[in-house]
Amino acid sequence: MKKKVFSGVQPSGIPTIGNYIGAMKNFVTLQDEYECTYCIVNQHAITVPQDPQELKERTRGLAALYLACGLDPKKSIIFVQSEVPAHAQAAWIVQCNTYIGELERMTQYKDKSAKQEAVTAGLLTYPPLMVADIILYHSALVPVGEDQKQHLELTRDFVQRFNNRYSKKKPLLVMPEPYIPKEGARIMSLQDPTSKMSKSDTNQKGFISMLDTPAAIRKKIKSAQTDSSGKIEYDKENKPGISNLLTIFSACTGRSIKELEIEFADSGYGAFKEQLADAVIAELEPIQNRYYELLESDELDEVLTDGAKRAAVIANETLAKMEAAMGLGR
Ligand code: AQP
Repeated sequence: MKKKVFSGVQPSGIPTIGNYIGAMKNFVTLQDEYECTYCIVNQHAITVPQDPQELKERTRGLAALYLACGLDPKKSIIFVQSEVPAHAQAAWIVQCNTYIGELERMTQYKDKSAKQEAVTAGLLTYPPLMVADIILYHSALVPVGEDQKQHLELTRDFVQRFNNRYSKKKPLLVMPEPYIPKEGARIMSLQDPTSKMSKSDTNQKGFISMLDTPAAIRKKIKSAQTDSSGKIEYDKENKPGISNLLTIFSACTGRSIKELEIEFADSGYGAFKEQLADAVIAELEPIQNRYYELLESDELDEVLTDGAKRAAVIANETLAKMEAAMGLGR
């Protein structure tokens, strides 16, 4: 039997090249080898304030981007989280078997709550919802960027706890592993290469969105922060800006960072940035063309309706077993 894969992206903005390199590019690679389920995690997005109309548009838009990147509904299940109620139901069970201390320790909670005027309970209980997403589909592998590693550790702790408490004889839940790319697991902001590139960054110059025009991509790369040494070398500690650009270059072309260092050994930052912009545009342009076609099509809604039906069958079955194991019912 093929191993199961699950992952998702929040429609909290237009995905960045960080989301693409760290996660979405791997979604496509994995679908040939594994049984994959990919979700548009809109319930995660509402842990911080969202404009309702924008959230709807971004949800559909993210689904179009999944398909445009190469996700194939014949190979993978693609659906919207809020259309499968078992996620929120299972999340309650997870919350009741997770401790507040564990949640308060999560780095993402600390970072995100520091940026909010008022912190919702949902921001604290975001990881249990993610645990629910993963366990419902018996996921063995979860392709994510490095920032999600801690949430995966929490998921593993939960699986062990649940199986020990409620299904000791025959473990009900599958123990998942994170699947993190060797390069590009943490693409940094173009303006502050010591912090992660994020789609909800208020500084538009900090990220390249997957839908940026070629002119915008060129402009953002041109103004990306570097250093004064003028040398194109990978040194994360002392040259975080150039190292980040090398990582993006490598991910978009499939060429190694060593190879790029050699090729650009005698180049200045200006010429390097020009060629990097060409590489990013070449990677994103075909995705964008397909995206705009899909957005106008009925195909997209058909894929999502069918995906939600298929996902619900699996999720409801797991949820029913979890409830039975815990004594929920008559
Ligand atoms: N900068 C990044 N480099 C590599 N991978 C990244 N991911 C996010 N940022 C980077 C990975 O993308 C997947 C989807 O992320 P998400 O939408 O679930 O939420 P996030 O991790 O909080 O991503 P953002 O872009 O920072 O969103 P906002 O701004 O809304 O918080 C995940 O696998 C993530 O690791």
